[in-house]
Amino acid sequence: MNSPLKSPLKSTAQTPELVDKFGRRVDYIRLSVTDRCDFRCVYCMTEEMTFLPRNQILSLEELLQVARAFTELGVKKIRLTGGEPLVRGDILSLIQNIGQLPGLEELLLTTNGAQLGKYAAPLRAAGVNRVNISIDSLDAERFKRISRVGKLESVLAGIEAAREAGFDRIRLNSVILRGYNEDEVLKLTDFAIERGIDIAFIEEMPLGEASDHNREDTTCSNDWVRSVIEEKYELINSTEKTAGPSRYVQIPGQQSRIGFISPVTHNFCEDCNRVRVTVEGRLLLCLGNEHSVDLRAILRDENCDHEDLKQAIIAAMDLKPERHYFYDRDHAQPVRLMNMTGG
Ligand code: GTP
Ligand code: 5AD
Ligand code: SF4
Repeated sequence: MNSPLKSPLKSTAQTPELVDKFGRRVDYIRLSVTDRCDFRCVYCMTEEMTFLPRNQILSLEELLQVARAFTELGVKKIRLTGGEPLVRGDILSLIQNIGQLPGLEELLLTTNGAQLGKYAAPLRAAGVNRVNISIDSLDAERFKRISRVGKLESVLAGIEAAREAGFDRIRLNSVILRGYNEDEVLKLTDFAIERGIDIAFIEEMPLGEASDHNREDTTCSNDWVRSVIEEKYELINSTEKTAGPSRYVQIPGQQSRIGFISPVTHNFCEDCNRVRVTVEGRLLLCLGNEHSVDLRAILRDENCDHEDLKQAIIAAMDLKPERHYFYDRDHAQPVRLMNMTGG
């Protein structure tokens, strides 16, 4: 891990900005609030997981301070991730506090949906604008095979609760894996269309070792997923963006947008606008690389203050790599599983 270097301010007091060596402006952070999850999805975790002890994870106060530092540096979009963010105790108070940070335009959450029945309305009331809900199968047994322990019915109830709560938008996230759920592309698409919500298809990324399958055998390209949808629907490319990696298409006459997140087959690093903070306080500059800075060390150093934290974040931008190289044997592959990275 790199130590936080002090470097001259790149920004002025009036217009703080996080810009990397390649001229990319970072205005989106993905803040992981826990490495724990009540599911064990085959592409994300191994069956037996060891989670971090409490003293290694950031407290709610520390998470808020990190969020505040980023918003003071021009970040406009914060997405809370996990593991599963809703298993973190007192998550609502953190959300309320983050939602009040000046300059923040969007507060978002990515969830497995299992607890949305209970949390959707309070999350909306606490200031969450949009939620992304993972769902990879509409068949209960299959759903269980993929999530190892999840119950489809709780996620379906969560999706309904989210619809009732009145979020600005809801997006389903589906990772399509050959041999698991590739025959459900149309079913999942129709499910989203019938409810007027969005859906994004995500290519499986080689993040850490998968214990139930060989990722190179299961990864489905989004070109293939798109061709399946095109057998039934006309798809029109859309220029609409959510400041995330998804490329959207629209179906004439339908409210739902269909998104494609294709990190394996169509690298989108050129316009990357985001960094991640793990629940250990590690600022990760790229999902597919190890470059990082230990913010927790600064947060817990009595000789460091909030300005030092901001300086370390600014300096870290120089470490942001140009791109990831998934499945490229000439480049080291990430060893971190997704729950540690924060989605
Ligand atoms: P929107 O704000 O709705 O666009 O959300 P999002 O796509 O940014 O967030 P979400 O948490 O739903 O992420 C969906 C998938 O995209 C996850 O598998 C993420 O890991 C992946 N993803 C998000 N950002 C990046 C990135 O910078 N690089 C790569 N390779 N994948 C990413
Ligand atoms: N590849 C692609 N997507 C993944 N997710 C978790 N692990 C992987 C992986 N290895 C997805 C989840 C969720 C989002 C946060 O990340 O399905 O939608
Ligand atoms: Fe949990 Fe999401 Fe990982 Fe599934 S993909 S195990 S729901 S963090």
